Amino acid sequence: MRVEVFDDYAGLSQRASDLVAGLIRTNPASVLGLPTGSTPEGFYTALCRSGASFQGVRTFNLDEYVGLPREHAQSYYTFMKQHLYDHVDLPPEQAHIPNGMAPDLEAECRRYEETLRAAGGLDVVVLGIGLNGHIGFNEPGAAWDAPTHPVMLAQATREANARFFGSLEAVPTRALTMGIGTILRAHRILLLASGSAKAEIVKRTVEGALSISVPATALQSHPNVTVLVDRAAAGMLSSVA
Ligand code: PGA
Repeated sequence: MRVEVFDDYAGLSQRASDLVAGLIRTNPASVLGLPTGSTPEGFYTALCRSGASFQGVRTFNLDEYVGLPREHAQSYYTFMKQHLYDHVDLPPEQAHIPNGMAPDLEAECRRYEETLRAAGGLDVVVLGIGLNGHIGFNEPGAAWDAPTHPVMLAQATREANARFFGSLEAVPTRALTMGIGTILRAHRILLLASGSAKAEIVKRTVEGALSISVPATALQSHPNVTVLVDRAAAGMLSSVA
């Protein structure tokens, strides 16, 4: 894993955008795996300003809540519309998010994997990281070879996301997520983390033992991972001066 440390959140966001925009310029038909959450907001702002054309790009989001209509204010579709789709020339039919309203969730996950496979797989996947080490909604204990699948959200994750929903009860209990197996098949992985609250999980991810109880440690087995962190999130890394 390569670790790049930036003075602040703006720096890591710009770097993530530069890397992805550069990839799109090199290959206008790039296939991107994309995250939601607070951390990538700056990345999307910078990416929308990059001038990169998304005309030929295909995007696949990491995850979506089960049971929220697409138009719900907290759906990840709404997040992507606000942070990317409304600002770039990405054709709507090339933007993919698992459908958490599908009547058969297992079938929806198989369809999503098949669509991704038909697109040629992910050239790059951008990840945030949960305080418990989740990537996408792969919670502690998730299998490292799993494809896209339905999951129960960890209590810690629901508590962390309650701030967006107004109350814990309003946070969905289930989601669809790309599996760690799907993520590890990407050619390149960018992991973004910002702030001192993430310092401990960043240290465990980069320097800790591989463990299924810390899903992000699976990334140590991938040959092309870049961890982009600000000074606060890098604060506990022994390898960073
Ligand atoms: P955050 O979420 O960026 O809102 O901290 C990260 C995650 O849970 O993956």
